[in-house]
Amino acid sequence: MRETENERTTFAEQGFLLRHGQFSAAEIEELREGAKELLSGSEERLVRERDGVTLRSAYGIHSDEAVFSRLARSARLVEPTRGLLGGEVYLYQSKLNVKRPFVGDRWEWHQDYAFWRAEDAMLAPQVLTAAVYLDDLDEFNGPLVVIPGSHRQGLVECSPRASSVEGDELSGYTSASLKHTVSREQVARLVGRGGLVAPKGRAGAVLFFSGCLVHASGVNLSPSPRSLALYTYNRVDNAPARAPRRPWFLQGRDVSPVEPVYGPLTGAEDRGAGGARPVEVGREREREHRGS
Ligand code: SIN
Ligand code: MN
Repeated sequence: MRETENERTTFAEQGFLLRHGQFSAAEIEELREGAKELLSGSEERLVRERDGVTLRSAYGIHSDEAVFSRLARSARLVEPTRGLLGGEVYLYQSKLNVKRPFVGDRWEWHQDYAFWRAEDAMLAPQVLTAAVYLDDLDEFNGPLVVIPGSHRQGLVECSPRASSVEGDELSGYTSASLKHTVSREQVARLVGRGGLVAPKGRAGAVLFFSGCLVHASGVNLSPSPRSLALYTYNRVDNAPARAPRRPWFLQGRDVSPVEPVYGPLTGAEDRGAGGARPVEVGREREREHRGS
């Protein structure tokens, strides 16, 4: 499960690492079932496409569904993440992006760290996201597209856009019109150096990518769904010092190290307490947030 030296080098040079076949068909099935529940959950944490109807994302997924809570602590995500970031990590954010057949919309060119630095005062880009493929990602259904090596530039200049929906600040972080984007000129310059890669893979693959990697994704043109469960881990010693301003489902509050859990995600009911402890902090924080 731990990363090899080759993988460490790939991640350091390219800014991403794709591992195929990390989760079994049975585990993916359970995650897909859990995803249905998530998408009928707390409206506050659901995001819809521009049509106002089609579901786009659910945030804070580690706090809702047991299987997504177990996934957040799965050693298959946590161990390589600790190795690639070089220290203990905590969960910063989790979300499910469902790019629906024919209508799932794009994500503009951006660096995740631009958001976490500007909005949350995160100290350094000692942060990565593990994207678990819940569907096969191909060239037709809007896979992530990355510029290899772009993370080595650090933060690329970008000027924040005003909120894309009047009175809805969250839309700048979650909608198809993002607040912090990388300009076309910068993208062209970076692509000239590093090219473009769409890390395609079957359901069960995991893509680890650096907080500074420039990435985007296009619309889903195909009749197939494209769902990703994304878990962002920050190094414990990189936790923002400033009191959080954004809701808990965008900036995690529990900065204690995630203890990896070994074994399958499925059949937790039969495994006893060990692997099945739900992450409670999310719900607590939701209550606080609503009350404030
Ligand atoms: C992201 O950039 O956070 C997600 C992009 C995608 O789901 O395609
Ligand atoms: Mn992103």
